[in-house]
Amino acid sequence: MDHFLYRDGQLYAEDVPVAEIAAKVSTPVYIYSTATLTRHFRLFDEALDGLPHVVCYAMKAASNQAILKTLAQLGAGMDVVSGGEYARAKAAGVPGDRIVFSGVGKTRAEMRAALEGGIRQFNVESEPEMQALSEVASEMGVIAPIAVRVNPDVDAKTHAKIATGKSENKFGIPISRASEVYAMAAALPGLEVVGIDVHIGSQLTDLEPYRLAFTKVGELVDRLRAEGHDIRRLDLGGGLGIPYTRGNEAPPLPKEYGNLVKEVLGDKGCEIEIEPGRLVAGNAGILVSEVIYLKQGEGRDFLILDAAMNDLIRPAMYEAHHDIVPVVEPAPGAEQAPYDVVGPVCESGDTFAKQRNLTALRPGDLVAFRSAGAYGAVMSSEYNTRPLVPEVLVKDDHFAVIRERPSFEEIINRDTLPEWL
Ligand code: LLP
Repeated sequence: MDHFLYRDGQLYAEDVPVAEIAAKVSTPVYIYSTATLTRHFRLFDEALDGLPHVVCYAMKAASNQAILKTLAQLGAGMDVVSGGEYARAKAAGVPGDRIVFSGVGKTRAEMRAALEGGIRQFNVESEPEMQALSEVASEMGVIAPIAVRVNPDVDAKTHAKIATGKSENKFGIPISRASEVYAMAAALPGLEVVGIDVHIGSQLTDLEPYRLAFTKVGELVDRLRAEGHDIRRLDLGGGLGIPYTRGNEAPPLPKEYGNLVKEVLGDKGCEIEIEPGRLVAGNAGILVSEVIYLKQGEGRDFLILDAAMNDLIRPAMYEAHHDIVPVVEPAPGAEQAPYDVVGPVCESGDTFAKQRNLTALRPGDLVAFRSAGAYGAVMSSEYNTRPLVPEVLVKDDHFAVIRERPSFEEIINRDTLPEWL
């Protein structure tokens, strides 16, 4: 459920007409709903009711400071994967003891910054990383709390580019080598083992892969405890999918996911950490764009928008589907025709949808890409020197620009010329 609904024939973001925001900020623009972000965060929090837990929002999905602050005020922890994300979490007021640091390639500088600013735990992914972290912590005279990310060799049944839990993926250490790796961690002077971490992929629409992975993690808890490790936290990652096609998909709900966690791991006496990103932010954001031209091709019509692959790369990168809806509600039963929906960028990959059935649209009309809140703005770029897409946050009947569109001058001035020019 989200808060982008038609009312009086117009698409609204909560209580604000989308057209009003577009008129004020111009297009393309991302619009987020505070109520949807709040609702989705709470669904996860409530799903784990009864178990000690922290919901660490995976900010890679949408990391605007206003979004982070909205979630931080609800008590969210954060999952970060870079020094930049760590700095964002701190800037949003998230205490260090609610921040987990994931990622396969943490640098020593990133480790140091997190140890200085405070960190709940590092999710380490390799022996060389453990070695480096132990050295950094020892130099600083502190102990780094760690969970080791294990790769359970489970097929997440999602797009290959976002599956992470198979042995051929670069993530984690093979679960079969866990005993050896935990023994090494325990022997390193700068580390303290606190738990186990697992994340098998993103946009999972079936709970079975989770069941398989969590079951393996449960067995590992028993084994590692028998080997003398004090396993007290389980970080189960993120990955729960969202419906991208309205009315056609019903991925499992956070409640069902929570029940599975309780069923498989509830008796381990561990604190549970989860790292949802997409489900918190995905349906809390839309990308609004204006139709520039309608062009007749050979046997197909192109709808050319002012948004492009640099603003929303998911269709080009993952063949992802985003529902596209007109901002003015079509009359009931209005006729539809197939369009290829494209952007102005100079490559054929700049195609949002092929032969998508839409009601008649004209230049100047606004459309909204639904479910664009996660991995939308954060993956945008300035390719073709198209200014970074702005972001707006709505709360009830008011809205605020939370990231301005840069001017051409600002973009150009970021470059610096060498003295010989
Ligand atoms: N934790 C870890 C360690 C992760 O790598 C990820 C996502 C998450 C949590 C959050 O997963 P989520 O709940 O959002 O599925 N750009 C791609 C998705 C990449 C996901 C990367 N890792 C897309 O647009 O589909």
